[in-house]
Amino acid sequence: MKIFLDTADLDEIRRASQAGLIDGITTNPSLLAKVAGDRAPRDIFLDICREVDGPVSAEVVAIDADGMISEGRRLAEIHENIVVKVPLTEDGLRACRTLREGGVRVNVTLCFSATQALLAAKAGASYISPFVGRLDDVGHDGMELVAEIREIYDEYDLETEILAASLRHPKHVLGSALLGADCATLPPAVLYKLLRHPLTDVGLESFLADWETLGKGL
Ligand code: E4P
Repeated sequence: MKIFLDTADLDEIRRASQAGLIDGITTNPSLLAKVAGDRAPRDIFLDICREVDGPVSAEVVAIDADGMISEGRRLAEIHENIVVKVPLTEDGLRACRTLREGGVRVNVTLCFSATQALLAAKAGASYISPFVGRLDDVGHDGMELVAEIREIYDEYDLETEILAASLRHPKHVLGSALLGADCATLPPAVLYKLLRHPLTDVGLESFLADWETLGKGL
């Protein structure tokens, strides 16, 4: 399963990328707003693309198909790593189809049902983003949605990649991997929670203490 970082924070992106922990980036307008200051979104996307050798999702903000298509084309021109993110609306799927016909990769976002995911795949989406955590927040089971989409895409040999999104903790990531999601996007805090284990820390501490008793270097 590919791991993407869900952030527009360049320091976090650089850290995870240099450690070889991530395969790509997802952003959304809210994540951009957190870090932008007086910088133009275009410059932020370009910096991210230069840092990461993989897909970088950049979202349109128009809500009509023509507006999304023109924003999507402008985003795609920024860098070859850009994947254009469109919302799962009727206009979003129209834009998805047109952008795909022009060779632009599209991530269809804000997916909350398996039937939405089916329509997105039929519109040629490269990625579908089911929002697991936001479904859990309203008392549904977000992981169940990932399972349903996997089943439908496998049944019909649909090539759209499942990009599990809105993941809030390591169990979401584990669940996504076990269910066969193609990618998972996580906030930096969740990424490092995957990495750390208290028994690793304890084990390392005791190995180092025992090594000290040798009184010799390598
Ligand atoms: C996905 O592409 C979105 O940016 C993100 O995962 C949304 O997560 P949230 O529900 O924690 O905002």
